[in-house]
Amino acid sequence: MSAPLLAVDDLVIEFDTQAGRRRVVDGVSFGVAEGEVLGILGESGSGKTMSTLAVLGLVAGNPGVMGGSIKVFDDGQPRELLEGLGRVIKRRGDKPARKNDRRWQRLVFRRMKPLWGRVMTAVFQNPRHSLDPLMTVGAQVEESVRLAEPALSKAEVGARAVDWLARVQMTDPSRVHGSYAHELSGGMCQRAMIAVALARRPRLLIADEPTTGLDTTVRAEIVALFKELLADRGRSMLYISHDIREVLYLADRVIVMRHGRIVEEATAADLKAGVGRRDPYTASLLAAAELPVGQQGAA
Ligand SMILES: Nc1ncnc2c1ncn2[C@@H]1O[C@H](COP(=O)(O)OP(=O)(O)O)[C@@H](O)[C@H]1O
Ligand SMILES: [Mg+2]
Repeated sequence: MSAPLLAVDDLVIEFDTQAGRRRVVDGVSFGVAEGEVLGILGESGSGKTMSTLAVLGLVAGNPGVMGGSIKVFDDGQPRELLEGLGRVIKRRGDKPARKNDRRWQRLVFRRMKPLWGRVMTAVFQNPRHSLDPLMTVGAQVEESVRLAEPALSKAEVGARAVDWLARVQMTDPSRVHGSYAHELSGGMCQRAMIAVALARRPRLLIADEPTTGLDTTVRAEIVALFKELLADRGRSMLYISHDIREVLYLADRVIVMRHGRIVEEATAADLKAGVGRRDPYTASLLAAAELPVGQQGAA
């Protein structure tokens, strides 16, 4: 059993809407071990993005994160990312609990700053919007390289950046190095974003629907790129998608979310082979993808 890298326990995220308070993540627990790929699968609105943004300390909006524990293991040392949450939440009678969100955001920022990039980093959908439009792609990869390897000379940083662009399989990495996001296709922007993320050498890469919005053939290429990058070295990844085939192809273990809860947790191998009992919702996803469903019902 490899060492844990991330442990999320009983996470609760709520938002106030016109219809009252809504719990969008309702007691979610999951973990990622060193060198493991955890897939999070679920339909749109099931709470996948909110759960992963909480891990990154990026849930914006009030009240947002309202309970649970998120531990990140930095060189084996657990750090509780939600420490102090109880102190900013006020409960009064049977009214919905209130949270001092400004205080919380300040606390989270201070705590997360040394972890962002180095311990975990993320790739989102809409890569064009994740890249800085006013900086060349190369300059953005170089920034990551410099932060990860501060001892390198200017020339070495440049060479390393081109190297990263080659590793994400850009056909002409030197040209891309000098290009701006608007000069690249959507697929190339996502490759560039992956290079920017990986050049930081994070312990955990979080990819939230990184292929959504890309053309079908480009999607397949990006998924293949992730597969190749994972084979490269034991990389830990949290891969979020609504596409069961992508998740089963990349992940070692899969959790299935629905309406803010986890309805299923299984190894990708068991899911692919139709081994074990499946929650009816997972079974419907497998059936829709023409995969073996196995037995249905509670384990
Ligand atoms: N700021 C917000 N205020 C109210 N509801 C929100 C807010 N952000 C997200 N939600 C709701 O939270 C639910 C979960 O969203 P999300 O985690 O983005 O789903 P997924 O990534 O699985 O598609 C959705 O129903 C969404 O509408
Ligand atoms: Mg999402």
